[in-house]
Amino acid sequence: MTRFPVADFRQMDTPFYYYDLDLLDLTLAQLLRAAAHPAIRVHYAVKANANPVILKQISRAGLGADVVSGGEIKAALNAGFKADDIVFAGVGKTDREIRLALQAGVGCFNVESLPELMVIDALAAEEGRKARVALRVNPDIDAHTHRYITTGLAENKFGIDMRLLDGILDTVATLDHIELAGLHFHIGSQITDLTPYILLCERINALQTQYESRGIHFPSINVGGGLGVDYANPARNPIPDFEAFFKIFSHHLQLRHNQTLHFELGRSITAQCGSLITRVIYVKEGISRRFAIVDAGMTDLIRPALYNAHHKIEKLNADPEERQLLYDVVGPICESSDCFGTDELLPLLQRGDLLAIRSAGAYGEIMASEYNCRPRAAAFFSKKK
Ligand code: LLP
Repeated sequence: MTRFPVADFRQMDTPFYYYDLDLLDLTLAQLLRAAAHPAIRVHYAVKANANPVILKQISRAGLGADVVSGGEIKAALNAGFKADDIVFAGVGKTDREIRLALQAGVGCFNVESLPELMVIDALAAEEGRKARVALRVNPDIDAHTHRYITTGLAENKFGIDMRLLDGILDTVATLDHIELAGLHFHIGSQITDLTPYILLCERINALQTQYESRGIHFPSINVGGGLGVDYANPARNPIPDFEAFFKIFSHHLQLRHNQTLHFELGRSITAQCGSLITRVIYVKEGISRRFAIVDAGMTDLIRPALYNAHHKIEKLNADPEERQLLYDVVGPICESSDCFGTDELLPLLQRGDLLAIRSAGAYGEIMASEYNCRPRAAAFFSKKK
């Protein structure tokens, strides 16, 4: 779907991120269509991509924001998200960040532990405010994704163990500056088999029934994010199947009267609209391997090095008649893990050729570093049609 303006690219310094804003618009439109229900509220997980242009486009579409730091609170407010539509998550919120969130008037704190709850109550008292909190429950569900990005299993640092929830709810009831907003869950990221979400719904149904018998009602349920994208075929599947995703919840989650249902989607909104554009610096013929050494590296896109992730690599303006060869596509950083792909079948590559590393719009630019004193890659945007 994304058409790359290659003639323009040839004049430009590489590497850089290129965002297809029409695709982002289409993605947002399909998301909003699939989520069109008065009880549903979608918050964009700012951690996936906090580029101001991207953030503004998402806030203009009417989504709320899910943030995990004071910096993200500021980025979301600057991009036009309403404070009331911001949920603030994270296992290690500092006092300074909590104060900032209270002063800004964020809609909800997703609370991950008892000590955090006590600190929020104390700081809210000092600020003369009441904090709305959702308790993040660890539902102990295996999301079948990479171990670094699965978060709902019992041994994770995230959330409150279900067996401790009773006690914490009792405490909530005693705190003057805390208002219970509801329960929060998040089972992991890049989830492509949706079955774990069915299990999550069943877990939530059971919890709600259990607490109702004790007279506890949760005004909201937040099921987090995690919907995956097709990294192998970004052209064939540029937009995730939001309809199938939301249907799971409408079929399996027993929402109570007047209850709101919140989502925190990151990757599924921004991944496919972004590509990392890079140039081949050298083609190095080894004995048994052929390396395409490119000017982008793990400092620009760390996902392959960190999670063994694979992003589709395409030669731009390739001649369809060109013969194809196997390449290891590697970056210039002094680390063996600085590799975008091994045995990539690509049209004949030469010094100066441009490549697009696809599906890089989520957890790409935002996770960049300056290791090796490399400057951060710039970002460019398609003109909106
Ligand atoms: N809500 C919570 C509480 C989260 O921890 C996350 C992601 C999200 C929502 C958004 O998840 P998404 O819809 O984007 O899957 N850097 C890794 C992904 C880390 C995800 C962390 N939490 C990667 O590049 O794959």
